[in-house]
Amino acid sequence: MRNPGNPLINTDPADAYTQLCSDRRSIRAFRPDAVPDELLLALLRSARQAPSGANLQPGSFLRVEGQARQRLTSALTQAFQNNQLEAEDYSYFPDPMASIYRRRQVAAARALYGALGIERDDRAARDAQFARNFCFFDAPVALLVTIERDMGTGCYMDLGMALYGLMLAAQAHGLASCAIGALASYPGLIRKTLSLSDSHAIVCGIALGYADPHAPVNQTITRRAEADAYFRTLNE
Ligand SMILES: Cc1cc2nc3c(=O)[nH]c(=O)nc-3n(C[C@H](O)[C@H](O)[C@H](O)COP(=O)(O)O)c2cc1C
Repeated sequence: MRNPGNPLINTDPADAYTQLCSDRRSIRAFRPDAVPDELLLALLRSARQAPSGANLQPGSFLRVEGQARQRLTSALTQAFQNNQLEAEDYSYFPDPMASIYRRRQVAAARALYGALGIERDDRAARDAQFARNFCFFDAPVALLVTIERDMGTGCYMDLGMALYGLMLAAQAHGLASCAIGALASYPGLIRKTLSLSDSHAIVCGIALGYADPHAPVNQTITRRAEADAYFRTLNE
């Protein structure tokens, strides 16, 4: 029997894991409550347990707070408002995007903007929501995820596992998160604003904290394709 207060109590570990995976969603509005340092470290240690090719454990998580965070948010928001463009450190989405993926992208946008009551052609309202990426959705914890520039594509896979490990660990502890790929649009600006060396590529940000359950944006529900769309068995 599952305890809704804590999914890990009175529950078979397999059921608890299944539940964690299905309960996790991207959360884009947070309560102001601080996340204790020890808890954040415990989550990062769990993330660090992710497997990686040859155990390289590539990448790093940088906590950005105080004046550094204010400087970063203000620089990114300004760049976005000025339609500033720069070359990204790595390529994320296919260009052009095949129609099956484009449909999923549109559905995800519809889920997000639909939850907020924003119409498809309301550019200003969409931009205002997009700009919230750059303040890490006001989450109590803002993380910047980076990876050594000379790492191969496989190492991004390793880092992705660590990212998901962090998200599930957060979920298990009653916290919520949202990855912020939007930050990858301004790698040079981020390095300059935070005085980071050029050795690391900017992969994404992470907003982390306790979800505000009443915020309309947190009513965003996305769906997944059936597993048989990407799982099949070849036997001849
Ligand atoms: C690496 C990565 C980057 C993402 N970047 C953003 C982002 O910049 N802004 C945002 O609002 N959501 C972002 N998301 C959240 C996705 O839109 C979300 O995971 C997807 O729509 C599925 O919804 P769910 O996480 O609620 O299951 C990102 C997710 C991942 C994994």
